[in-house]
Amino acid sequence: MLIASTAKNLHEALASTSTVPIASRTIICVPTMGALHEGHAALVRRARSWANNNDPAALVVVTIFVNPTQFNDPADLQRYPRTLDADCTLCEAAGADAVLCPSVEEVYPPNAPPKPSDSELPAVATAPKLEDARRPGHFAGVYQVVRRLFELTRCRRAVFGEKDWQQLQLVRAMVQQLNLSIHIDPAPTIRESDGLAMSSRNRFLSPTERAVAPAVYRAMQAAQRTNSIADAERTMRETLQHAGLDVEYAVAREAQSLMPITTSTSTDRASVRLLIAAKLGSIRLIDNAPWG
Ligand code: PAF
Repeated sequence: MLIASTAKNLHEALASTSTVPIASRTIICVPTMGALHEGHAALVRRARSWANNNDPAALVVVTIFVNPTQFNDPADLQRYPRTLDADCTLCEAAGADAVLCPSVEEVYPPNAPPKPSDSELPAVATAPKLEDARRPGHFAGVYQVVRRLFELTRCRRAVFGEKDWQQLQLVRAMVQQLNLSIHIDPAPTIRESDGLAMSSRNRFLSPTERAVAPAVYRAMQAAQRTNSIADAERTMRETLQHAGLDVEYAVAREAQSLMPITTSTSTDRASVRLLIAAKLGSIRLIDNAPWG
Protein backbone atom coordinates (compact mmCIF):
# COMPACT_ATOMS: atom_id res chain seq x y z
CA MET A 1 0.00 0.00 0.00
CA LEU A 2 1.25 3.45 -0.94
CA ILE A 3 1.46 6.27 1.58
CA ALA A 4 1.70 9.77 0.13
CA SER A 5 1.58 13.23 1.62
CA THR A 6 0.94 15.19 -1.58
CA ALA A 7 -1.51 14.68 -4.41
CA LYS A 8 1.37 14.82 -6.90
CA ASN A 9 3.22 11.96 -5.16
CA LEU A 10 0.00 9.99 -4.84
CA HIS A 11 -0.85 10.16 -8.53
CA GLU A 12 2.74 9.55 -9.68
CA ALA A 13 3.06 6.53 -7.41
CA LEU A 14 -0.34 5.12 -8.43
CA ALA A 15 0.50 5.64 -12.12
CA SER A 16 3.73 3.66 -11.74
CA THR A 17 1.91 0.57 -10.41
CA SER A 18 0.22 -0.33 -13.70
CA THR A 19 0.38 0.09 -17.45
CA VAL A 20 -3.29 1.17 -17.44
CA PRO A 21 -3.25 4.99 -17.65
CA ILE A 22 -4.11 6.45 -14.26
CA ALA A 23 -6.58 8.93 -15.79
CA SER A 24 -8.77 6.06 -16.98
CA ARG A 25 -8.89 4.32 -13.59
CA THR A 26 -11.72 5.00 -11.15
CA ILE A 27 -10.45 6.36 -7.86
CA ILE A 28 -12.65 5.65 -4.85
CA CYS A 29 -12.03 8.05 -2.00
CA VAL A 30 -12.67 7.18 1.63
CA PRO A 31 -12.25 10.48 3.50
CA THR A 32 -11.31 10.20 7.20
CA MET A 33 -9.70 12.17 9.98
CA GLY A 34 -7.73 9.16 11.23
CA ALA A 35 -8.10 7.53 14.67
CA LEU A 36 -9.54 4.72 12.61
CA HIS A 37 -11.63 1.89 14.04
CA GLU A 38 -13.71 -1.05 12.72
CA GLY A 39 -16.34 1.39 11.42
CA HIS A 40 -13.75 2.97 9.11
CA ALA A 41 -12.38 -0.46 8.14
CA ALA A 42 -15.91 -1.30 6.96
CA LEU A 43 -15.90 1.80 4.71
CA VAL A 44 -12.60 0.77 3.15
CA ARG A 45 -13.75 -2.84 2.72
CA ARG A 46 -16.93 -1.57 1.08
CA ALA A 47 -14.88 0.47 -1.41
CA ARG A 48 -12.61 -2.54 -2.07
CA SER A 49 -15.48 -4.92 -2.60
CA TRP A 50 -17.26 -2.48 -4.95
CA ALA A 51 -14.02 -2.29 -6.97
CA ASN A 52 -13.52 -6.06 -7.00
CA ASN A 53 -17.10 -6.65 -8.16
CA ASN A 54 -17.57 -3.76 -10.58
CA ASP A 55 -14.30 -2.28 -11.74
CA PRO A 56 -11.18 -4.33 -10.88
CA ALA A 57 -8.87 -1.54 -12.08
CA ALA A 58 -10.38 0.91 -9.57
CA LEU A 59 -8.14 2.22 -6.80
CA VAL A 60 -9.14 2.73 -3.18
CA VAL A 61 -7.56 5.84 -1.66
CA VAL A 62 -8.11 6.65 2.03
CA THR A 63 -7.46 10.24 3.05
CA ILE A 64 -6.32 10.95 6.60
CA PHE A 65 -6.48 14.62 7.46
CA VAL A 66 -7.50 16.22 10.76
CA ASN A 67 -9.28 19.19 9.26
CA PRO A 68 -8.80 22.30 11.41
CA THR A 69 -11.62 24.23 9.70
CA GLN A 70 -14.38 21.92 10.92
CA PHE A 71 -13.57 22.17 14.64
CA ASN A 72 -15.39 24.92 16.47
CA ASP A 73 -13.47 24.26 19.70
CA PRO A 74 -9.63 24.56 19.36
CA ALA A 75 -9.21 22.27 22.40
CA ASP A 76 -11.16 19.56 20.53
CA LEU A 77 -8.79 19.87 17.57
CA GLN A 78 -5.81 19.69 19.92
CA ARG A 79 -6.96 16.52 21.65
CA TYR A 80 -8.17 14.75 18.50
CA PRO A 81 -6.27 11.40 18.51
CA ARG A 82 -3.47 11.07 15.94
CA THR A 83 -2.62 7.41 15.29
CA LEU A 84 -1.15 7.39 11.78
CA ASP A 85 0.86 4.14 11.98
CA ALA A 86 -2.07 2.12 13.31
CA ASP A 87 -4.37 3.84 10.80
CA CYS A 88 -2.17 2.80 7.86
CA THR A 89 -2.05 -0.79 9.14
CA LEU A 90 -5.87 -0.85 9.31
CA CYS A 91 -6.22 0.64 5.81
CA GLU A 92 -3.87 -1.90 4.30
CA ALA A 93 -5.63 -4.82 5.99
CA ALA A 94 -9.01 -3.51 4.77
CA GLY A 95 -7.82 -3.40 1.16
CA ALA A 96 -6.78 0.21 0.48
CA ASP A 97 -4.36 0.82 -2.39
CA ALA A 98 -3.11 4.08 -0.96
CA VAL A 99 -3.35 6.50 1.95
CA LEU A 100 -3.09 10.22 1.35
CA CYS A 101 -2.15 12.12 4.51
CA PRO A 102 -1.68 15.70 3.32
CA SER A 103 -0.42 18.72 5.28
CA VAL A 104 -2.60 21.75 6.01
CA GLU A 105 -0.59 23.64 3.34
CA GLU A 106 -1.36 20.95 0.75
CA VAL A 107 -5.08 21.00 1.49
CA TYR A 108 -5.35 24.77 1.85
CA PRO A 109 -2.97 26.56 -0.51
CA PRO A 110 -3.67 30.30 -0.87
CA ASN A 111 -5.70 29.76 -4.08
CA ALA A 112 -7.96 26.98 -2.70
CA PRO A 113 -11.70 27.73 -2.42
CA PRO A 114 -12.38 29.43 0.93
CA LYS A 115 -14.72 28.19 3.64
CA PRO A 116 -18.23 28.91 2.30
CA SER A 117 -20.52 31.32 4.14
CA ASP A 118 -23.80 29.99 5.56
CA SER A 119 -25.74 31.49 2.66
CA GLU A 120 -23.58 29.58 0.16
CA LEU A 121 -24.11 26.22 1.86
CA PRO A 122 -26.89 23.81 0.84
CA ALA A 123 -29.94 24.23 3.10
CA VAL A 124 -29.39 20.88 4.80
CA ALA A 125 -26.26 22.35 6.43
CA THR A 126 -28.04 25.32 8.01
CA ALA A 127 -31.82 24.88 8.15
CA PRO A 128 -32.51 21.74 10.24
CA LYS A 129 -31.05 23.22 13.49
CA LEU A 130 -29.56 19.88 14.49
CA GLU A 131 -25.75 19.46 14.24
CA ASP A 132 -25.66 22.78 12.37
CA ALA A 133 -27.05 24.64 15.39
CA ARG A 134 -24.79 22.89 17.91
CA ARG A 135 -21.56 23.17 15.92
CA PRO A 136 -21.49 26.56 14.19
CA GLY A 137 -19.07 26.60 11.26
CA HIS A 138 -18.63 22.81 11.33
CA PHE A 139 -20.44 22.03 8.07
CA ALA A 140 -18.79 24.93 6.25
CA GLY A 141 -15.46 23.30 7.21
CA VAL A 142 -16.67 19.86 6.10
CA TYR A 143 -17.85 21.28 2.76
CA GLN A 144 -14.52 23.06 2.26
CA VAL A 145 -12.36 20.04 3.07
CA VAL A 146 -14.41 17.40 1.24
CA ARG A 147 -14.40 19.54 -1.88
CA ARG A 148 -10.59 19.76 -1.66
CA LEU A 149 -10.12 16.06 -0.87
CA PHE A 150 -12.20 15.23 -3.95
CA GLU A 151 -9.95 17.52 -6.01
CA LEU A 152 -6.73 16.12 -4.56
CA THR A 153 -7.71 12.48 -5.02
CA ARG A 154 -9.51 13.09 -8.37
CA CYS A 155 -12.06 10.52 -7.26
CA ARG A 156 -15.17 9.47 -9.15
CA ARG A 157 -16.69 7.67 -6.20
CA ALA A 158 -16.57 8.27 -2.44
CA VAL A 159 -17.76 6.33 0.59
CA PHE A 160 -19.33 8.13 3.57
CA GLY A 161 -20.74 6.52 6.71
CA GLU A 162 -24.44 6.91 7.53
CA LYS A 163 -23.40 7.47 11.15
CA ASP A 164 -22.94 11.19 10.34
CA TRP A 165 -26.30 11.43 8.59
CA GLN A 166 -26.47 15.21 8.27
CA GLN A 167 -22.90 15.27 6.91
CA LEU A 168 -23.85 12.60 4.36
CA GLN A 169 -26.82 14.70 3.16
CA LEU A 170 -24.58 17.76 2.97
CA VAL A 171 -21.99 15.95 0.84
CA ARG A 172 -24.72 14.70 -1.50
CA ALA A 173 -26.12 18.24 -1.79
CA MET A 174 -22.62 19.65 -2.39
CA VAL A 175 -21.98 17.20 -5.24
CA GLN A 176 -25.22 18.41 -6.83
CA GLN A 177 -24.51 22.08 -6.17
CA LEU A 178 -21.02 21.91 -7.70
CA ASN A 179 -22.17 19.54 -10.44
CA LEU A 180 -19.42 17.02 -9.67
CA SER A 181 -19.40 13.62 -11.38
CA ILE A 182 -18.78 11.77 -8.15
CA HIS A 183 -21.00 8.97 -6.90
CA ILE A 184 -21.57 9.12 -3.14
CA ASP A 185 -21.87 5.65 -1.66
CA PRO A 186 -23.52 5.63 1.80
CA ALA A 187 -22.25 2.92 4.16
CA PRO A 188 -24.40 1.53 7.00
CA THR A 189 -23.35 2.30 10.58
CA ILE A 190 -21.23 -0.36 12.24
CA ARG A 191 -22.27 -1.12 15.81
CA GLU A 192 -20.79 -2.84 18.85
CA SER A 193 -22.65 -6.00 19.92
CA ASP A 194 -24.79 -3.93 22.34
CA GLY A 195 -25.82 -1.49 19.60
CA LEU A 196 -23.46 1.42 20.35
CA ALA A 197 -22.44 3.00 17.05
CA MET A 198 -18.68 2.85 16.53
CA SER A 199 -17.04 6.25 16.89
CA SER A 200 -13.57 7.63 17.58
CA ARG A 201 -15.06 9.30 20.67
CA ASN A 202 -16.10 6.03 22.33
CA ARG A 203 -12.55 5.57 23.60
CA PHE A 204 -13.11 8.55 25.92
CA LEU A 205 -16.12 6.97 27.70
CA SER A 206 -15.49 5.78 31.28
CA PRO A 207 -16.55 2.15 32.00
CA THR A 208 -19.74 3.46 33.67
CA GLU A 209 -20.55 5.75 30.73
CA ARG A 210 -19.80 2.94 28.28
CA ALA A 211 -22.39 0.75 30.02
CA VAL A 212 -25.01 3.52 29.67
CA ALA A 213 -24.20 4.54 26.07
CA PRO A 214 -26.21 1.76 24.28
CA ALA A 215 -29.36 3.56 25.53
CA VAL A 216 -29.01 5.70 22.39
CA TYR A 217 -29.57 2.63 20.22
CA ARG A 218 -32.33 1.31 22.49
CA ALA A 219 -34.10 4.68 22.23
CA MET A 220 -34.21 4.42 18.43
CA GLN A 221 -35.36 0.78 18.57
CA ALA A 222 -38.19 1.79 20.92
CA ALA A 223 -39.15 4.65 18.56
CA GLN A 224 -39.31 2.19 15.67
CA ARG A 225 -42.20 0.49 17.48
CA THR A 226 -44.27 3.72 17.61
CA ASN A 227 -46.86 4.89 15.10
CA SER A 228 -46.61 8.66 15.16
CA ILE A 229 -43.85 11.24 14.92
CA ALA A 230 -44.81 12.71 18.29
CA ASP A 231 -44.69 9.28 19.98
CA ALA A 232 -41.37 8.44 18.31
CA GLU A 233 -39.80 11.66 19.59
CA ARG A 234 -41.29 11.33 23.10
CA THR A 235 -40.17 7.68 23.36
CA MET A 236 -36.60 8.50 22.38
CA ARG A 237 -36.39 11.43 24.81
CA GLU A 238 -37.82 9.40 27.71
CA THR A 239 -35.55 6.40 27.08
CA LEU A 240 -32.48 8.64 26.97
CA GLN A 241 -33.42 10.65 30.05
CA HIS A 242 -34.28 7.51 32.00
CA ALA A 243 -30.78 6.16 31.27
CA GLY A 244 -29.23 9.41 32.53
CA LEU A 245 -28.23 10.99 29.21
CA ASP A 246 -28.43 14.70 28.65
CA VAL A 247 -30.57 15.05 25.49
CA GLU A 248 -29.62 17.71 22.91
CA TYR A 249 -32.14 16.49 20.36
CA ALA A 250 -34.16 13.33 19.74
CA VAL A 251 -36.21 13.90 16.63
CA ALA A 252 -37.90 12.21 13.68
CA ARG A 253 -37.24 14.24 10.53
CA GLU A 254 -37.63 14.06 6.76
CA ALA A 255 -34.64 11.87 5.88
CA GLN A 256 -33.07 13.99 3.13
CA SER A 257 -33.80 17.60 4.06
CA LEU A 258 -33.79 16.84 7.81
CA MET A 259 -36.63 19.29 8.22
CA PRO A 260 -39.50 18.70 10.66
CA ILE A 261 -42.37 16.64 9.34
CA THR A 262 -45.45 18.82 9.17
CA THR A 263 -48.98 17.52 8.77
CA SER A 264 -48.86 18.58 5.11
CA THR A 265 -45.84 16.33 4.44
CA SER A 266 -46.26 12.62 3.92
CA THR A 267 -45.34 10.46 6.88
CA ASP A 268 -44.34 7.51 4.75
CA ARG A 269 -42.15 5.70 7.31
CA ALA A 270 -39.38 5.07 4.79
CA SER A 271 -38.85 8.81 4.36
CA VAL A 272 -38.38 9.44 8.09
CA ARG A 273 -35.06 9.37 9.90
CA LEU A 274 -34.67 9.20 13.68
CA LEU A 275 -31.78 11.37 14.88
CA ILE A 276 -30.28 11.68 18.34
CA ALA A 277 -27.57 13.79 19.96
CA ALA A 278 -27.04 13.29 23.67
CA LYS A 279 -24.26 13.82 26.17
CA LEU A 280 -22.80 11.42 28.65
CA GLY A 281 -20.57 13.50 30.90
CA SER A 282 -18.43 15.48 28.46
CA ILE A 283 -18.81 12.99 25.60
CA ARG A 284 -21.32 13.80 22.91
CA LEU A 285 -22.92 10.81 21.16
CA ILE A 286 -24.81 11.10 17.88
CA ASP A 287 -26.71 8.37 16.09
CA ASN A 288 -29.56 7.86 13.63
CA ALA A 289 -31.71 5.11 12.15
CA PRO A 290 -34.64 4.69 9.79
CA TRP A 291 -38.06 4.85 11.41
CA GLY A 292 -39.54 1.88 9.61
O1 PAF B 1 -16.48 12.30 8.90
C1 PAF B 1 -15.29 12.67 8.97
O2 PAF B 1 -14.40 11.94 9.44
C2 PAF B 1 -14.94 14.06 8.50
O3 PAF B 1 -15.95 14.98 8.75
C3 PAF B 1 -14.52 14.11 7.02
C4 PAF B 1 -15.67 13.73 6.11
C5 PAF B 1 -13.35 13.17 6.78
C6 PAF B 1 -14.08 15.52 6.66
O4 PAF B 1 -13.01 15.94 7.42
